[in-house]
Amino acid sequence: MIIINIKQLCGIQSPDKRLLQGKEMTDLPSIENAWLKVTDGKIADFGLMTELDPATFENADEVIDATGKLILPTWCDSHTHLVFAASREEEFLMKIQGKTYEEITAAGGGILNSARKLAHTPEEELYNSAAKRLNELIGLGTGAIEIKSGYGLSYDAELKMLRVIRKLKENFSIPVKATFLGAHAFPAEYKQDHKGYIDLLITKLLPQIADEGLADYIDAFCEQNYFSIEETEQIIDAGAKYGLKAKIHANQFTNTGAVQACVRKGALSVDHLEVTDDAVIESLKGSETIATLLPSCSLFINIPFANARGMIDAGLGVALASDFNPGTTPSGNMNLVVALACMRMKMLPAEAINAATLNGAYAMDLSSSYGSISKGKQANFMLTKEIPSVTFMPYSFGSNHIDTIFINGKKY
Ligand code: NIG
Ligand code: FE
Repeated sequence: MIIINIKQLCGIQSPDKRLLQGKEMTDLPSIENAWLKVTDGKIADFGLMTELDPATFENADEVIDATGKLILPTWCDSHTHLVFAASREEEFLMKIQGKTYEEITAAGGGILNSARKLAHTPEEELYNSAAKRLNELIGLGTGAIEIKSGYGLSYDAELKMLRVIRKLKENFSIPVKATFLGAHAFPAEYKQDHKGYIDLLITKLLPQIADEGLADYIDAFCEQNYFSIEETEQIIDAGAKYGLKAKIHANQFTNTGAVQACVRKGALSVDHLEVTDDAVIESLKGSETIATLLPSCSLFINIPFANARGMIDAGLGVALASDFNPGTTPSGNMNLVVALACMRMKMLPAEAINAATLNGAYAMDLSSSYGSISKGKQANFMLTKEIPSVTFMPYSFGSNHIDTIFINGKKY
């Protein structure tokens, strides 16, 4: 297949580029009036229309004319809680009436509300609802995704969630990474027995998860009233014994020191970071740990937006993700995430797109095969409708600018 007359081919990187940091993020390398060739599901070649060899064009089994349209890599959403049993509109109403996330949780909402709803939901029903959501997200441009457990909070229900994620991996053609988030909240029966719950996670669940190969990563919600730094460190160490790298919920409501601890432990990512200071930014410098920012969570529960500008100006790479979950972010629309990053976090469109593509792929160890237009990478990209520029996408944030999604070179 060959796509010709592409108005702008965006997000071109050398195949070995894994992560963009600081000023590098400001550049979205592109070529205008381009062609792109796909062979065996991979990006085979691309170039300027003026330099297209007629033979390349004539030998193609399919030719798509993209006059007036742009091509970008698909979004790499590295933080979601896509598997859940039911929505939580009742909490949305409480929020509109002025209650904070903390107050809603105290009144029976929050993570434990989702866990109650999930406990008795059959695996098949969970799978069907998650598959429907994932299908919708691919249509909105998501071409790689991470999904967490964490609404089980018991031996059986955590495994149930992870098996649903495994089934999504098997049945979908985009990469799906699974994260074990048993340390999302303490279930009511362990409220006074943190050690007991952590023992369950570490000595019972983790070996079983490893046995079945159900997780790629481990996560914990490191926050006041959830998991302390010491508890989070214990979880990270336990995961490491089974080869699971850490992706940790850090600094969502308070500056706990979680980021520094995660960097010391070599976490792959620290996610949220709505509350930071210079010391947090300093600790990330020179580390392999990427800051993953979730602006639609800030929008929905009305908490500060992360200091993306400070991080990028300090030379850090940041990733953007949706945090799709029924409590704090009932949206997995990465187009909105990119627009919010521009509107509320002072990220330039190029920075936001890089953060939601190559850097998101880095946060899932996928940047060798996804996240940019590079020869040899999987052909996961989106063809836009006829739009004036790439900046028009976050600018005109209420419309769907996607014409066609290609996954492994096939129209989705
Ligand atoms: O990432 N912060 C922790 N976990 C989710 C929210 C969970 C919920 O309320 O269901 C988040 O925002
Ligand atoms: Fe989250």
